[in-house]
Amino acid sequence: MAQINENYSKLQASYLFSDIAKRVNRFAEENPDQPIIKMGIGDVTEPLPEVCRKAIHDAVDEMGTRTGFHGYGPEQGYAFLREAIAENDYSPRGCEIKPSEIFVSDGSKCDSGNIQEIFSESAKVAIPDPVYPVYVDTNVMGGRTGQNVNGRYEGLVYLESTPDNGYVPSPPEEAVDLIYLCFPNNPTGACATREQLQEWVDYARRNKAIILYDAAYVAFIRDPEVPHSIYEIGGARECAIEFRSFSKNAGFTGTRCAFTVVPEELFAYDSAGEKVSINKLWNRRHTTKFNGVSYPVQRGAAAIYSPEGKKEVKTLTDFYMENAAIIHKTMTELGFSCVGGTNAPYVWIKIDGSSWDFFDELLHKTGIVCTPGAGFGTCGEGHFRLSAFNTRENVEKAMTLIKEHFGK
Ligand code: MLT
Repeated sequence: MAQINENYSKLQASYLFSDIAKRVNRFAEENPDQPIIKMGIGDVTEPLPEVCRKAIHDAVDEMGTRTGFHGYGPEQGYAFLREAIAENDYSPRGCEIKPSEIFVSDGSKCDSGNIQEIFSESAKVAIPDPVYPVYVDTNVMGGRTGQNVNGRYEGLVYLESTPDNGYVPSPPEEAVDLIYLCFPNNPTGACATREQLQEWVDYARRNKAIILYDAAYVAFIRDPEVPHSIYEIGGARECAIEFRSFSKNAGFTGTRCAFTVVPEELFAYDSAGEKVSINKLWNRRHTTKFNGVSYPVQRGAAAIYSPEGKKEVKTLTDFYMENAAIIHKTMTELGFSCVGGTNAPYVWIKIDGSSWDFFDELLHKTGIVCTPGAGFGTCGEGHFRLSAFNTRENVEKAMTLIKEHFGK
């Protein structure tokens, strides 16, 4: 008799964004004439940059020739992309990352979800609250938690991100083995300072812990003082893995390309207490379970590092940041207290009462979809998130509707 992995029974019924999509679809069926503006999931709306389209077209044409055809590529990604990433994303910020430390993949959701499986089932895991739900759910699946009691899983260490700490948690008193951090943060939009990240790196090195650093939103940082990579912090090569994505900077949510950096100095320990290279272990996992991102898509991703590509990415991310500024300004003028939206494409807004009730009210009264804070964790209660990934027309329309509904 086939039996399921019982850890799956501990999960909430459905993944947050699937749950929201279901509610919105039900509402749309019941209210077919009501226009809906989706500001929930952070999915991009603007077309792929021209440089990427051209590079993808050219690569497809190349694939149609005997000499330019590509079969299986290197699982870790083609050298042209790994080299471009190291040279453009890391060297200019003083971080020495080798192409051999970069693993190209089809998404940061997959990478940040899959990484846990190379670590012990008994690893003690710290996660921020509120949090991108993938980090929690994949550790539940991996058997590192007990049951969910009142919205929190037994066995996890929750790092509370609240108005009191500016939504940037400090290291806990107790020792943990794995720490998830995400800056610019999803969902709050908060950024950690150099000093705050140094505290985390020092903590991780003291405890021989590993930081899993999600930097998927780095392209939206506008303040030059804000660290762009965990590797800008002294000692991070010995204690951190970094996840990055082409989804949000270059509009690749439907095209799929991302990468993970695993430095050669990073080690964890086997049961005999011997050091094991995490780069080698991840390479083993990646080459076993993944066959690489398609050649045309990697060519498209590499194109963003050309001078023209850099300009297009800046224009694209500036566009979304202007949306974020419009949202932030409107909500602030209406008297809401907001964070985010200045170095991140999410605006995190405080409310009184239940965020799911607020979600329903907003949807039913205005047709606007937000993400209820409680969906990201207990500390998300009393907040909701608006995504700046939308057309200008939709953002302006949504702000007019919100003003009509909440204005005095
Ligand atoms: C979000 O809305 O939090 C993100 O778009 C989800 C994701 O990137 O997977």
